[in-house]
Amino acid sequence: ATTLPYPQIAIAKAKALPQNKVIHFNYPDESSPCAVIRLGQPVPGGVGPDMDIVAYSTLCTHMGCPVSYDPASRNFKCPCHFSVFDSEKMGQMVTGQATENLPKIRLEYDANSDSVTAVGIDGLLFGRQANTL
Ligand code: FES
Repeated sequence: ATTLPYPQIAIAKAKALPQNKVIHFNYPDESSPCAVIRLGQPVPGGVGPDMDIVAYSTLCTHMGCPVSYDPASRNFKCPCHFSVFDSEKMGQMVTGQATENLPKIRLEYDANSDSVTAVGIDGLLFGRQANTL
């Protein structure tokens, strides 16, 4: 299979992101919903001035239901069969029916412009043979 290059899409200004609240965007195309969060403390894979900004696909890896962010636990939770994914640990599956971690959107941060840009994905988006179509 041919792998197409990932687009580079500016998704937010780091300093404008609310803390511990998701902002939705689509990546790498309009049919792939994602969410970015500024967690407020450094986490593995985090970018930005505080290394605390992460982004994930919001389609559950089990059967593709939309997951939602729970600010109290800082987990993404799937309402369909109760899979739970840890936003602070690279989207790691915590419990549930899913067998794959939540795909993590690779981000880059430019300090001059304060821009957070999506540049790739680690993990396969639900329902796809390849992340870029
Ligand atoms: Fe999310 Fe089944 S679709 S747990």
